[in-house]
Amino acid sequence: MPQLIFTFPDQAALAANMHLSIGQWEWRQFPDGESYVRVLSEVRSEEAIILCSLNNPDPKTMPLLFLARTLKEMGAGKITLVAPYLGYMRQDKRFHDGEAVTSDIFASILSPFIDALITIDPHLHRHHALEEIYRCECKALSAASLMAEWIKTNRSKALIIGPDMESEQWVSQVAQTVDSPYVILEKIRHGDRNVEITIPDVAKYQGYQPVLVDDIISTAGTMIKAAGLLRQQGLADITCLATHGLFAADAYSQLQKAGVKAIVTANTIPHESNGLDVAAMVVGALC
Ligand code: R5P
Repeated sequence: MPQLIFTFPDQAALAANMHLSIGQWEWRQFPDGESYVRVLSEVRSEEAIILCSLNNPDPKTMPLLFLARTLKEMGAGKITLVAPYLGYMRQDKRFHDGEAVTSDIFASILSPFIDALITIDPHLHRHHALEEIYRCECKALSAASLMAEWIKTNRSKALIIGPDMESEQWVSQVAQTVDSPYVILEKIRHGDRNVEITIPDVAKYQGYQPVLVDDIISTAGTMIKAAGLLRQQGLADITCLATHGLFAADAYSQLQKAGVKAIVTANTIPHESNGLDVAAMVVGALC
C-alpha cells in the first residue's frame, strides 16, 4: 500500500529523516480557539501515517482526531499513528479515590480513530502491553539499541545505572549490549517533584563512567537526585541518557546545573539534547 506521512509541525525534523512521501495538510486555530484542519493532498487507498509526538498532548489531541477521521473519510486504507512519545501513560492506576485513570481513557479516545499505533518506549508499568488499553494494532519499539550504540561510541568503561525498578527493562538490555555492569536504584515518589532515592554501595566502581538510563526525563528530579547520590560515593563524569526529554519548565537547566557531564535524549521530542535518531527504526516498523 503506498504511504503518505502527515506531520505535526514540531516533528518536521524527524519526518525529514524518514524520507517518506509527505502529505500536505493545514492546521490553524479559529479566533475562538477551535482547530481548523484541512487535508490538501489527494488521498485514495494510501496508508496515511500521522506523525505526532504526544508530549503536551492536550492541544494536539483534537487536531489529531480531526486529521485522522478526515483522512479516513477521504479514503485512506489504513491510518497509522506514529507517536514517538506516547503521553498519558503514567497515570495507569487510581492511586487515590476519584482520580481519572488517564492512560485507559486516553487510549479509548484515540483507538476508534486509528488502525495502528507505533510508539517508542511507552511507559508500560502496571500495563504490560499497549494492547491492554489500545484497541488497534500496536508496535512498541525501544531506543535501547540506540542508547547502547551511543555508549559504545562515547564511553570506554561504562557503569549503567537505572534510577528505579521500572527502568530495569531498558537498563539490563543496554548493559548486556555494551557488556557493562549495571545497578538499579530504589525510588519512592512522594509528589510530582519530590522523589526519594536509595543507592546501593557503588564505591567499588571507581574509574567507571556512570551512565544513568531512563525512559523519561520530566522534571529531572529523578536524574538530579540520582546524580547527587552517585557523586557522594565518588563517581564523577555522569551522563544522563533518556529516550524522551520532556524537560518540564526549567528542568533542563536545573539538570545542567546539577553538574552532569552530558545529557542525551532521542529525537522523539525535539530538543537541543537530541543525540539519538529514531527515524530508521520507525521507518523499519512501517514496512
Ligand atoms: C518514572 O517512573 C519514569 O520512568 C521516570 O523515572 C520519571 O518519569 C522521571 O520523572 P522526573 O524527571 O519528573 O523525575
